[in-house]
Amino acid sequence: TKPLIIAIDGPAASGKGTLARRLAAQYGLPHLDTGLTYRAVAHRLLQFGLPLENVSAAETAARQLDLGDMNREVLSQHAVGEAASKVAVMPSVRRILVDKQREFAAKGAVLDGRDIGTVVCPDASVKLYVTASPQVRARRRHDEMVAGGKDVSYETILADIERRDARDMGRADSPLKPAESAYLLDTSQMDIEAAFSAAKTIIDVRL
Ligand code: C5P
Repeated sequence: TKPLIIAIDGPAASGKGTLARRLAAQYGLPHLDTGLTYRAVAHRLLQFGLPLENVSAAETAARQLDLGDMNREVLSQHAVGEAASKVAVMPSVRRILVDKQREFAAKGAVLDGRDIGTVVCPDASVKLYVTASPQVRARRRHDEMVAGGKDVSYETILADIERRDARDMGRADSPLKPAESAYLLDTSQMDIEAAFSAAKTIIDVRL
């Protein structure tokens, strides 16, 4: 039988990561946050003081990346996400990372990112496109950062989110968009429990 692959895409701070983790636990599948792979490449360049436009350095970092050795705490920093969206426009870097992501998915998994349903796993068993208004996403991200002791304004976060959306949706290679068969989940008015139970219902009817 075909391995169960759940593909979850959506913009920054849409709640797709939390949802993916919950679904992975629910269905007993490994989970890969593919955003971390782009973040790890960007972080490498930042670490070595290399410009984020350096394609060959980014390719090397992508080739050397070990999916089992990504430090979520370091990589989840807001500034690393911004940098990640710059290396994510490079087709050669995407090809290297997509190969690693497909290998991870092969035996069944939950993957979340921007191009899982469209490019990485076009044959996924279930595809979800998780979204929320930019204002709601900025509010959630801002609350998280304030709770973590960061001093940053809501307006700055909203501007960052809108800039990142534009870059992710506007790039030529693998832009963020719902896959044709994706189920749209707008979480603007939902908490995580509601989003989880909606997603579970969608998945269970398709299994
Ligand atoms: O989801 P996260 O915010 O961690 O992703 C960081 C950046 O990595 C995104 O803004 C996007 O540019 C890139 N990305 C991507 N394709 C994916 C996952 C992330 O291009 N599948």
